[in-house]
Amino acid sequence: METQKTISPDYTSYPAALAPFVRENSLVVRSPGRINLIGEHTDYNDGFVLPAAIDKAAYFAITPTEGDFIKLHSADFHEDYKTTIHELRKSEKNSWPNYLLGVADQFKKACVTLSGFEGTITGEIPLGAGLSSSAAVECAIAFALNELLQTGFSKLQLVKMAQRAENDFVGVRCGIMDQFASMFGLRDHVIRLDCRSLDYEYEPFRMEGIRMVLLDSGVKHSLASSEYNVRRQQCEEGVSIIQKKYAEVQSLRDVTQTMLDELLLPVVPLIYRRCKYVVEENLRLLAACEDLKKGDMKSFGNKMFDTHHGLSRDYEVSCSELDFLVDAVQNNPSVLGSRMMGGGFGGCTINIVNEGAVEELIQSVGEMYFQSFRKELKAYVVKIEDGTSLVRHIG
Ligand code: GLA
Repeated sequence: METQKTISPDYTSYPAALAPFVRENSLVVRSPGRINLIGEHTDYNDGFVLPAAIDKAAYFAITPTEGDFIKLHSADFHEDYKTTIHELRKSEKNSWPNYLLGVADQFKKACVTLSGFEGTITGEIPLGAGLSSSAAVECAIAFALNELLQTGFSKLQLVKMAQRAENDFVGVRCGIMDQFASMFGLRDHVIRLDCRSLDYEYEPFRMEGIRMVLLDSGVKHSLASSEYNVRRQQCEEGVSIIQKKYAEVQSLRDVTQTMLDELLLPVVPLIYRRCKYVVEENLRLLAACEDLKKGDMKSFGNKMFDTHHGLSRDYEVSCSELDFLVDAVQNNPSVLGSRMMGGGFGGCTINIVNEGAVEELIQSVGEMYFQSFRKELKAYVVKIEDGTSLVRHIG
């Protein structure tokens, strides 16, 4: 593409790192990471979630080229990856191209005629911190290809393609929450998503006097190699046992505590604990939404602590660093709620903190954390932002 002119950078709409890769005929898409207030490990159980998109995003620049080459570049890793439209295969060497190739593969599977392109990705979402940088990248390329090729897929169709890319190509059997939140995020609102019907409502999330603080344990989680898929399978196992007696049950969404006590507790105590957490978490989320409507953030925050304890003790997807970070703030009157967030096994805790106490909290927890784990604690104070969008049209 030497013949094409690099255009002058537009730092207001995308990061400077992307500027050398943006040409006259490039599109640039911004797609954010996400937080989730409550409703963890419920999405793949047909349950409810309450996520929001944040002010940290991935950016993808796409430029059409002649021929059938796909040339990818990671501006953050300074790496290239080249393949052709006919050879869309999982890269074993690097993982970052797979989030992009997996989505291109979904377009192919949807019978879209792809043509060659160059794509460059960069991002400000901390990797492995449980903020769904992978979903952001998937949504970014899905949105970009849809625009470039004028394929006319709806946002929901793009979300599903992005999720399938993660399921089939990357190999994580994730639910729909991360991709949905990245694509459908709305500034100052959380999304109450019913993962069974995919009906959703935006609930205003008032930030007067409070801040959303993410404390990053620095423990990198790798969902693909972690127990994530195992948890999903354990939930399915619970459902299949319950179905033998209650044929109408399709997922944990339809299961009651009585069914769990009757059919799982006596025979499969581990599966019982996994399923109990999910059943409780769905009820907790619905109650938390009532708190939100009433503006009762204290009660909402208490439920976040309860979620953490369920995730840690029953679902067992926490780790000692995350437990430490929640314990460290549990009795702090300036912290309304705290819990591990996302898939687990590392990443961040999400904390709702009184505005005036943020700096001191970060410092004091940071010191305690360092003393216990000899690790620097990173902290991000995030705002709720809009979802995936085009930030540069073809010039
Ligand atoms: C990961 C997955 C989501 C969801 C969460 C846990 O982020 O990608 O689909 O299951 O874990 O709530």
